[in-house]
Amino acid sequence: MIIKPKVRGFVCVTAHPTGCSAHIQQQIDYVKAKGPIKQGPKKVLVIGASTGFGLSSRITAAFGSGAATLGIFYERPSEEGRPATPGWYNTIAFSKAARAAGLYAANLNGDAFSDDIKKQALEIIARDLGQIDLVVYSLASPRRVHPKTGAVHKSTLQPIGAPYTNKTVDTDKGIVSEVTIQPADETGIADTLAVMGGEDWEMWIQALLDAKLLARGATAISYSYIGPIHTWPIYKDGTIGRAKIDLERAAKAIDTKLKAHGNGRAFISVNKALVTQASSAIPVVPLYISILYKVMKAKGTHEGCVEQIQRLFATQLYNGVQPKFDAEGRVRVDDWEMRPEIQDAISEIWPKVTTENLEQLTDIKGYRSEFLKMFGFGVPGVDYEAEVEPHHVML
Ligand code: NAI
Repeated sequence: MIIKPKVRGFVCVTAHPTGCSAHIQQQIDYVKAKGPIKQGPKKVLVIGASTGFGLSSRITAAFGSGAATLGIFYERPSEEGRPATPGWYNTIAFSKAARAAGLYAANLNGDAFSDDIKKQALEIIARDLGQIDLVVYSLASPRRVHPKTGAVHKSTLQPIGAPYTNKTVDTDKGIVSEVTIQPADETGIADTLAVMGGEDWEMWIQALLDAKLLARGATAISYSYIGPIHTWPIYKDGTIGRAKIDLERAAKAIDTKLKAHGNGRAFISVNKALVTQASSAIPVVPLYISILYKVMKAKGTHEGCVEQIQRLFATQLYNGVQPKFDAEGRVRVDDWEMRPEIQDAISEIWPKVTTENLEQLTDIKGYRSEFLKMFGFGVPGVDYEAEVEPHHVML
């Protein structure tokens, strides 16, 4: 089958296995080139391991510190005439490379919110790993079936309190327009918190502690975003922001438990805005990212997911250093994004952007190429005219 990108709004419904594999190899090469991360993690559980920041965490742990990894994710395998989702191909490529390097890599595809997947994960850890010393919680999901109540919670990306109007871009068509998003009601706020808040992270940590599968002194991290005033109504002060406040609450609760467990630790890392499947679905944010990439590339400070996570591990978590916390106890690798000279430049460009000057004033080209790369397209060295086998068996 010859696989071409089929972009539908903010998703691409096809993925290229060879391209995904080459994209994974680029990230592995980056981590290896940065050199070993000393005193790094050795047995790592990554929840949300197949794309974005979770995938980069897995790659950094494995190829930066020689860690054994168990990855949990929710991906769709290929079906007759239809390629798998990119996370499926990413995971196969990662697992092949890890095992070729002599590293343990196990995978569990299913709903991380469910009791069943937690039970299966504990069984794999008990059988193969003994105890985990790093848990990365990096889920981004539109829904959660609550394991205790059976309720289905759907997360929303909405402001709270008042409608929000701002510029946005259709990244595929290159059209800049104004969008108004209606505020969420109480149910929408509570549902988003149930999906993207901290309860499930706490459930994972408690299950590991109860089963005595978390090493004394273990680390638990999860990821958040704050961003600039342009996006606050839809992000920091919106439904997702409320969920992130709850994630921070959970980080503190988990930290207390882990402190009592051999002086372990839990915290949130606030990361940079990046093109991922999760962020491309948020209104306004893709326009911000396109301007951000333009400004940060010009300053030479642009990073992708793997650069961010490698820096997090190497300068904040391991290598014999202590994390530098902000006033709220969070680690900040969004520090370069939030520098005043970057944000001032964005604020200057923001009001000027139109459909006509989008290509000049923003890095919409870079956005599109990153977006396609997530699905394995546009990766140098890959022959996209060649026949490729879409059916790959999970390792
Ligand atoms: P992503 O969409 O690339 O990755 C989500 C991961 O979660 C995938 O591995 C997916 O398979 C997995 N997943 C989703 N639902 C699942 C389920 N029910 N069961 C098992 N696995 C499931 O997302 P991204 O952007 O890497 O987000 C990860 C975290 O990073 C989120 O907490 C997000 O808020 C945060 N973050 C993202 C930023 C961005 O700009 N993309 C910036 C800062 C933080």
